[in-house]
Amino acid sequence: FNVPIAVNEPVKTYAPGTTEREEVQKAFKEMYQSTVDIPLYIGGKEIKTGNTKNLFPPFDHQHHLGTYHTASKDLIQEAIDSALEARVKWSQMAWEHRASIFLKAAELIAGPYRAKINAATMIAQGKTVHQAEIDAACELIDFLRFNVQYMTEIYKQQPISAKGIWNRVEQRPLEGFVYAITPFNFTAISGNLPSCVAMMGNVVVWKPAATQIYSANVIVEIFKKAGLPDGVINVIYGDSAMITNTVLDSADFAGIHFTGSTGVFNDFWKTIGSNIHKYKTYPRIVGETGGKDFVWAHPSSNAKEVATALSRGAFEYQGQKCSAASRAYIPASLWEEIKNFVIEDVKSFKMGSPEDMSNFMSAVISESSFDKLAKAIDDAKASNEAEIIVGGGYDKSKGWFIEPTVIVTTNPKYDTMERELFGPVLTVYVYEDAKWEESLKLVDSTSEYALTGAIFSGCRYAVETATKALENAAGNFYINDKPTGAVVGQQPFGGARGSGTNDKAGSMINLLRWVSPRTIKETF
Ligand code: SER
Repeated sequence: FNVPIAVNEPVKTYAPGTTEREEVQKAFKEMYQSTVDIPLYIGGKEIKTGNTKNLFPPFDHQHHLGTYHTASKDLIQEAIDSALEARVKWSQMAWEHRASIFLKAAELIAGPYRAKINAATMIAQGKTVHQAEIDAACELIDFLRFNVQYMTEIYKQQPISAKGIWNRVEQRPLEGFVYAITPFNFTAISGNLPSCVAMMGNVVVWKPAATQIYSANVIVEIFKKAGLPDGVINVIYGDSAMITNTVLDSADFAGIHFTGSTGVFNDFWKTIGSNIHKYKTYPRIVGETGGKDFVWAHPSSNAKEVATALSRGAFEYQGQKCSAASRAYIPASLWEEIKNFVIEDVKSFKMGSPEDMSNFMSAVISESSFDKLAKAIDDAKASNEAEIIVGGGYDKSKGWFIEPTVIVTTNPKYDTMERELFGPVLTVYVYEDAKWEESLKLVDSTSEYALTGAIFSGCRYAVETATKALENAAGNFYINDKPTGAVVGQQPFGGARGSGTNDKAGSMINLLRWVSPRTIKETF
């Protein structure tokens, strides 16, 4: 079980004059000027059905990036069949050979594919180079390396034996195939969800979000180059309902690895529940869903630190991280100072195409996301419970641009304090200093979610009180830091309540969901 010790991939700076900056700029230009025609990937074969859909970058909806092909019901079934066929050999392959493939994929991303996967993420998902680097390069590399290490730790764990008896546990893959559904907002999550399942000897049918197909296709290329055998991960695009219904109807459906919205995940539970008699085995249901992540400040906290957590935590990547700060609870005594810092910082943010590396933000992912955010901003403008103190503008003439917007509300249960918007809108409630303990109850009770949250305080008593009062309010809980930027191997990621099954991406907990242990007792 001797594998290379996993270390976090160092984040490159992309400062002017660096090689990495030149390489990513070159990749961006070349990719932006050419068009793609993305096939399905089933049983190792690239399949073009002729039923295509168009791809556009979110920051320029007139620029045609190319097309992707969509699957018919028959091809979805073929993806399932190919996975099951590949399972025969893959599930028996010795772990070190599976590990090697994913370690090689990590090296390919760290080296020859770094510029390409970052540029793809910048183009398709509207990430700045820094946001792409910490996601598509570093986080994905870390997932691959750390998961290999966790895999060996799982295999190493064995029960004790007694005189004349040998007890052992075999960590077998699940009996069937796993369905991976991945989101647009992290290329790393998109690569991790199918790969960590496959690493444990399982086979996968993978459906990436339509708005992330462009960079998912680069992941497919990398896995192939790393030597992943045909049929282990099958990639399909197209009508979500048809894909899901076909997959969940299969007797061999053995689990779902999901990141996406709470509503969609709830629908999966219902369908899986009503199909339960069809399956050979109880399916594993693992998902990370919505969030309404908080920042809470105690009167003893440092105003500048809180302000930085708000402006960076809420607006990096247009607030589209599942971990983004979207509601804040600030004591009245600090509000003036925090407000001034936030406004000053937000006013310095430039927006536009990620190709211009001086931009701090770009467009939100889609028209429907734009419309939802614009409506929330308009509602705040019309409400007598809300005031917009910075931002509030939006413009869809070229791309789906929403200004970073801070709403201050007098109602702690105001719509945007509770509802997930998934965009650059932060809502702040200012509470009376003396009521800081009561304000913690508001934090805990205001949202159905529990993904990330941050508390700020210079007083240990307040830190202790808040940590206890909010024990179920966030699966990733930050003390004196912003609620975004969990690092694989350092802060295993995920939340409970409406935010998911809390099976912590990038951890042994998650990998354990993808094995079906057999305990063997042999008597001599
Ligand atoms: N690592 C990301 C964050 O914490 C989520 O995948 O922001």
